[in-house]
Amino acid sequence: MQRFEHLISPIEIAPGFTMKNRIMKAPQSTWRWNLDGTADGSAGIDLYESMAKGGVGAIDIAGINWEPPVGGGIYLCAYDDRFIPGLTELAKRLHKYDCRVIGQLHHGGPLAPAQGDGRPICASTLEIEDLPTPPPEGKATHGLTHDELLEKRQLIVDAAIRLWKAGFDAVEIHAAHGYFLNSFLSPIWNHRDDEYGPQSAESRTRLMREIFDMVREACGPDFVIGTRINGQEWSPLAAGAITPQLAAENAKALEACGYQYISVSGYGYGPLPFRYCPDYFPYPDPEPFMEPYMDDFRGLGILMPGIKAVKEAVSVPVIGAGRMDEDKGERVLREGHADIIAYGRYLWADPEFANKVRDGRTDEIRRCNRCASCEDPVTSPRICRVNPALGRERELELKPVETKKRVMVIGGGPAGMQCALDAAERGHDVTIYDSKSELGGRIKLAAMIKGDKDEEVMPLYDYLTTMVEKSNVKVKLKTEVTLDLVKRENPDIVALANSSPYFIPAIEGIDRKNVFTVPGMTKLATVPMKMFGPAKLASMSEKFFPVGKKVVILGAGAEGAQCATFLAHRGKEVVLLAEGEDIGGLVPQKYKVRLVPWFEEHGVQILRNARLLEIGRKSVTVQVNEESREISCDSVMIMLPEEHDPTFYEQLRKIVPEVYEIGSTLGGENAFLKHAMLDGRLAAVKM
Ligand SMILES: Cc1cc2nc3c(=O)[nH]c(=O)nc-3n(C[C@H](O)[C@H](O)[C@H](O)COP(=O)(O)O)c2cc1C
Ligand code: SF4
Repeated sequence: MQRFEHLISPIEIAPGFTMKNRIMKAPQSTWRWNLDGTADGSAGIDLYESMAKGGVGAIDIAGINWEPPVGGGIYLCAYDDRFIPGLTELAKRLHKYDCRVIGQLHHGGPLAPAQGDGRPICASTLEIEDLPTPPPEGKATHGLTHDELLEKRQLIVDAAIRLWKAGFDAVEIHAAHGYFLNSFLSPIWNHRDDEYGPQSAESRTRLMREIFDMVREACGPDFVIGTRINGQEWSPLAAGAITPQLAAENAKALEACGYQYISVSGYGYGPLPFRYCPDYFPYPDPEPFMEPYMDDFRGLGILMPGIKAVKEAVSVPVIGAGRMDEDKGERVLREGHADIIAYGRYLWADPEFANKVRDGRTDEIRRCNRCASCEDPVTSPRICRVNPALGRERELELKPVETKKRVMVIGGGPAGMQCALDAAERGHDVTIYDSKSELGGRIKLAAMIKGDKDEEVMPLYDYLTTMVEKSNVKVKLKTEVTLDLVKRENPDIVALANSSPYFIPAIEGIDRKNVFTVPGMTKLATVPMKMFGPAKLASMSEKFFPVGKKVVILGAGAEGAQCATFLAHRGKEVVLLAEGEDIGGLVPQKYKVRLVPWFEEHGVQILRNARLLEIGRKSVTVQVNEESREISCDSVMIMLPEEHDPTFYEQLRKIVPEVYEIGSTLGGENAFLKHAMLDGRLAAVKM
């Protein structure tokens, strides 16, 4: 029996709409379209084509706007006929791969991440005090009058007709999340007292019924009409959130309208750490109100109760989503909780996921790390930490080289491995050199510090090392690369991917035995890490970790902040010294916002604008603003970023025709995975 028998089996949603497997691309706004909202020739088409080529049964093109969008983000649009040519090009390019194309019609409604200055539209007028998500994200809303509602209805229908004309197989009427049509389905937003009010499933879905009827009439019987709804909403501040029972009632009514599939998602409002991505619950620890959901989180996912409730209520195909991998997806299908699995971030991380599942090549899957970089507002358009080519498929294509060259990659961390794999795929003769006895750089150390409850780093180590092993990249371990060695090897190209020196301030006492640095910790951990691996070592470190009870950490960037959570989890009394105001540095926002409250609750003392002046045997002297203080402690950890040291690079440039610096070598933010992986790819594309 095939291991993923259910996932790879076909399913017919309607005559003429058969998916060759049950793997669907979940809708995710990519922001990779042209700035004017057209798709013509855009990177967005290349992005989706990579997944169609990678074998998904259907792609749900996310967030197509039926009204001109306001605010940030680059959305695909269908509010005018001028968008039809680009939409047609998109559908044609995906159809080539026997992939069904769905267009999700979207309007942010009351809680769009992007809104104008006025009141956002909603089923009802709500004042600030009634909002489930308070300002600045939430805004007092404007409830639509009956005439306005009919006007919006027409715009949605017109946009659906344009998708149909463009050759899409289906339209998905987006009624999930905190958005426009959800504001009718969810009593949290819908306080109307007319026939569109929250009184019954029929009244909540009335607008959806009217939209369905009008699209059906205009587009005929063959155009599939589906919808996405919330199976559950979480709202600590306002009453009326959708429960799985209410979602089942909504779904039943929508099925009765004629909707041909129901895709189930969920949404978190207000102070919750998530909106539509069911992650971040256990970071750094689940808050008390999250505890009831933790069993689901650790099992098939927190969206499961809503998905199951809908599946039990309807007979049309149900699409489940949320932090799925191939094993969970297969189990959900096998146990009959859903009919199709929508994968979002897994397909961003690896557009070939579906083909790899079909072929049983699961060790080759580049897995989403749940790192939240794609949801980070600092990155627009969207990026993926582990797939540097996402949305840049054409620009970063790995074209075969005309002249095969000898490439020496110095450093076998993520940047080095990515670069080596990409350069070898292009046809170069590549060798990785590393002074350590195994590849991976500091990935294992990062995995140990971060843990694996939410973000998962080790799958990246597994993927990169497996792929290096399967490739024709040669590896020379325990090899310190000197200028002499480079001269002897005489390569055409060098990619310098080793780590730079960490910044160690010249303060009195810095050489004391009670001072720990990242290189020192790395050295200390090398043998046990090799023997036990990060998960076991993390658990062993709960019993013993070789620093004293009271620890002062210098540096509150990502390194320092993560080290503080690690130590506090192990019962240490931690004082975190931040050079400025910021705590967490480059930790993606979704995680970062939870750090300071957690520190406050767990007794981690934060000192901002602090300068470490002196380290003693049992204390440190610190200057905070203008004031000097002595803090008693047993150990001091220096967690400052790496600093670029170009000396070796400059020497190499004199003897090697082509030299690149990538990842940690460049220090600062390039040491972070998302930059390191991209640096590796960029260099390989240029070689
Ligand atoms: C960056 C990003 C953008 C998203 N945009 C949309 C969207 O436009 N429409 C939608 O229905 N869901 C959207 N989602 C939610 C996904 O469809 C999916 O439900 C969610 O990511 C959980 O699935 P996953 O764990 O497989 O990623 C988005 C998710 C992410 C991370
Ligand atoms: S950026 Fe991170 S969370 Fe987003 S898809 Fe990539 S690995 Fe997953």
